[in-house]
Amino acid sequence: MSSSPLADLDSQVASLLASIESLISLEALRSAEPTIVGKRSILASLQKSLGSLEPDERREAGARLQDARTTVGDAFDARRRVLESDARQASLEADRLDLGDVVASSVSSSLSAGHPGLVAVTQRELEDVFVALGFTVAEGPEVETDWYNFEALNIPPAHPARGLWDTFYVDLGEPETVVLRTHTSPTQIHLMEEAVAGGTLPIHSVMPGRCYRRDAPDARHLYAFHQIEGLVVDRGITFGDLAGVIESFTKAYFGPDISSRLRPGYFPFTEPSAEFEITCTICRGAGCRTCSFSGWVELGGCGMLDPAVLEAVGIDGSQWSGFAFGFGIDRCAQMRHELGDMRALIENDTRFLDQIS
Ligand code: PHE
Repeated sequence: MSSSPLADLDSQVASLLASIESLISLEALRSAEPTIVGKRSILASLQKSLGSLEPDERREAGARLQDARTTVGDAFDARRRVLESDARQASLEADRLDLGDVVASSVSSSLSAGHPGLVAVTQRELEDVFVALGFTVAEGPEVETDWYNFEALNIPPAHPARGLWDTFYVDLGEPETVVLRTHTSPTQIHLMEEAVAGGTLPIHSVMPGRCYRRDAPDARHLYAFHQIEGLVVDRGITFGDLAGVIESFTKAYFGPDISSRLRPGYFPFTEPSAEFEITCTICRGAGCRTCSFSGWVELGGCGMLDPAVLEAVGIDGSQWSGFAFGFGIDRCAQMRHELGDMRALIENDTRFLDQIS
């Protein structure tokens, strides 16, 4: 009796499975396909040899061979899926953008978490100086009605003084015109109204915040800028108190060699009024282009509260008096840090921003 054609089937299957496992690329898999599972495979040729067997033997051998072909075919398909998924992964890896590399190559220094800008830093320092002088810090809205921005401050409609604070008007029709505030002075009105309503006079407060004017930006002006307002309402307050606060602030913030001076000025909501100037920090008073060779630069305005303002908010001027001042925070930053052009504060140039910490 001739030996069965399937005598070596188990070891043949084992060696086919081993060669499937050793295929390491889709190209190798494709080129091995005919000899492992195709017409030229050992299992296909065994199939042909079954023809010489007796019917019973043939049926049994046919079933074994079919099992073997299924085992090898399944292993081959499984290997194909593994190699296909490896190939997909490799192409994804190749396409992947390493953001770390991109950032590292476009930014020479390491990433930083950012920091407050010069205006915010300046505002905080100014608040600190005034808190040390006994003031509290308050804030008011940036969008005001005509009443708070002008009328309560003794600037009636069509008054020529409105030209000093020309602004962005939003006319919503009745009942009132709305404006982007042109100064922080309307916050004085809010504070006095609240103190009258709550019976909490006196007031010693500073009020920092953003203001808007219809100004074209230049080296010393911005259309959106910042002011800090000061308000004192108490008994027996004099112009000497005002001058003393201004001088103490100037020395504390700008340094002992910088002085303040008050020159007669005009504001509808203070009487008498003064312009508040400090020694030019660029030339230390010697005279330069920045101060128009006068040795002084204007920082803001101030004065004693006008009786018309006290009356508008319902404060009895025979019992209470007070003063107010207001000046530019951006201008302080410019003077303290000797910025030639104020527009640097809004241009977001990192070469400038990186110098602030
Ligand atoms: N609000 C005035 C301005 O912006 C400054 C000022 C404030 C003047 C308080 C007097 C009193 O020009």
